[in-house]
Amino acid sequence: MAKRGPTYICQACGAVYHRWQGKCDACGTWSSLSEEAQAAPVPGGRTSSNGKARGRVFALETLKGDTQDAPRIKAGIGELDRVTGGGFVPGSVLLIGGNPGIGKSTLLMQACAALALSGRRVVYVSGEESTGQVRLRAERMGLAESPVDLAAETNVEDIIATLGQGSRPALVVIDSIQTMWSGEVESAPGTVTQVRGSAQALIRYAKTSGACLILVGHVTKDGQIAGPRVVEHMVDAVLSFEGEGAHAFRILRAQKNRFGPTDEIGVFEMTGMGLSEVTNPSALFLADRDQAAPGAAVFAGIEGTRPVLVEIQALVAPTSLGTPRRAVVGWENSRLAMVLAVLETHGGLKLGQHDVYLNVAGGLRVNEPAADLAVAAALVSSLSGAILPPESVYFGEIALSGAIRPVSVAPARLREASKLGFESALMPSGGADTGDGGGLMLRRFGHVTELVADIAARAPRRDVK
Ligand code: TYD
Ligand code: MG
Repeated sequence: MAKRGPTYICQACGAVYHRWQGKCDACGTWSSLSEEAQAAPVPGGRTSSNGKARGRVFALETLKGDTQDAPRIKAGIGELDRVTGGGFVPGSVLLIGGNPGIGKSTLLMQACAALALSGRRVVYVSGEESTGQVRLRAERMGLAESPVDLAAETNVEDIIATLGQGSRPALVVIDSIQTMWSGEVESAPGTVTQVRGSAQALIRYAKTSGACLILVGHVTKDGQIAGPRVVEHMVDAVLSFEGEGAHAFRILRAQKNRFGPTDEIGVFEMTGMGLSEVTNPSALFLADRDQAAPGAAVFAGIEGTRPVLVEIQALVAPTSLGTPRRAVVGWENSRLAMVLAVLETHGGLKLGQHDVYLNVAGGLRVNEPAADLAVAAALVSSLSGAILPPESVYFGEIALSGAIRPVSVAPARLREASKLGFESALMPSGGADTGDGGGLMLRRFGHVTELVADIAARAPRRDVK
């Protein structure tokens, strides 16, 4: 048998080393290695005395066959059901990550209460709070009457044994996976080995019993689900719960989903009575817009299947530093660098002596290249001092050549803008037919030079002082 020495495991990514080192080669994190006992072989592993595997023979199937569509359990919270792809799938495992205090426990307690009220058995296991604390929160949200089975436990074997009693639960929530420990794993709770071992046991329970399992996972500063990055590939869906501390709204986003789309978002607002659904996010994101300032452009975006309008704010100011600053909140740094380079090369803007700040209002994170045009408009507007028409929306992708490229689902973007009272849209000249454009006046641009000229024409004359 191979000799088993001590093993060092990176607590950030799960990479295994046989010697300690200061930095993890796999993920680049410093001081993240800690000594752990090697994971025990999977119980039930079968090896005969001569070392050859001797397995059970099973029948193979064809792709074509009778499989019912996964029956789903709707939580009754529209925004949550939208992100899961239409409800929880029995026997599936969901990992939900987010910063501490963002509202994971609150959201899950609301989902549990709603499901329990519909007559299903729901078990909520908290490893972080006492039952008293959980009960208090439920009371404050007016959910105390809901027949949720509650426990404050951290041992996985005990939990699985308890779940085996009585009728099979439809939903089991484990809050959080980092607090769980399994007696079969010789490592401290919270270490990668324990998290992985506990998750494996719980997932095995979900798959064999048919209960839907939700694991809560904490997120580190850089947005990774700590430790449980090793769990991410074991589960069926990974959802992240995001939000800015200063804003009351929260966004639930699917990062991976074996049973649904990954680009849908659910929008919630944190109130004194828990989380409430936001069915019209555009109105929320545009709520307090300063229309009379240069540097603001409304982007008509798409999140999943839903159009979302959001304000892009730019500030371009002469720098006092040797190297000008570029800071972005809510968008990609590299994408901003690209738009700036295009504006300098093809639009004739001089930005080398200017700091550039870009912000997506309200704390939303935009991932679409379609935001390029709105970003460019905001930047040119801030630099020139020209106020953009407040009743206009912008969308379009900018190519390195300066060409403005068409983007997908333009009609839905236009309809949303029209619904919210916008009057015109600045958009790419090519692209599919947009029908009547939702009644908006469509102004089409083919190249950034046209955009720059259009905005410059609105700029106040800056006479030399
Ligand atoms: P919580 O769900 O405990 O966060 P997590 O489980 O992600 O760590 O939410 C805690 C925060 O939510 C806390 O700062 C208080 C706030 N909150 C409200 O504003 N209203 C409410 O009704 C509840 C229950 C919490
Ligand atoms: Mg919590």
